[in-house]
Amino acid sequence: MSIFDFMGIKQDKKPPSRRDRGEYFTKWQLALKTANIVKKLDFNYIIEPYCGEGALIQHFFEDYEGVANDINEKFTQKLRGYDDEKWKITNYDVINSTTKELIEKWGITGDRKLMIFTNPPYHLGLK
Ligand SMILES: C[S@@+](CC[C@H](N)C(=O)[O-])C[C@H]1O[C@@H](n2cnc3c(N)ncnc32)[C@H](O)[C@@H]1O
Repeated sequence: MSIFDFMGIKQDKKPPSRRDRGEYFTKWQLALKTANIVKKLDFNYIIEPYCGEGALIQHFFEDYEGVANDINEKFTQKLRGYDDEKWKITNYDVINSTTKELIEKWGITGDRKLMIFTNPPYHLGLK
């Protein structure tokens, strides 16, 4: 018996869909508008832990430093050209990592003013 059976949670029998994996990307215009609002805030390092193809974080590549992470390498491949001394493009499983682990893996030091800007996976495929 799985933990889901034990808790009375029904699981899908079919393979998870994009919806199940929460793979819905922010539309271009909304991403730009929200990015411009975030840019008015005080920070010097930005983290997009669930970046997908970079709809939100792409607006920060030029003038900021930070991390763009997504568990799915297929999505972050499109951002590989931005991986340099200012930007880390990674594929960690953020949901199953602790904040401490991620901060260490990303090499983030204490003198950073952090901003986390994301549209996260909102659906875990549970019913
Ligand atoms: C709703 S999409 C949003 C993508 C992007 N933030 C945007 O606004 O377009 C959520 C993303 O989270 C990623 N994701 C799902 N589970 C994850 C996990 N455990 N760790 C890191 N990324 C994950 C998915 O691959 C997907 O690209």
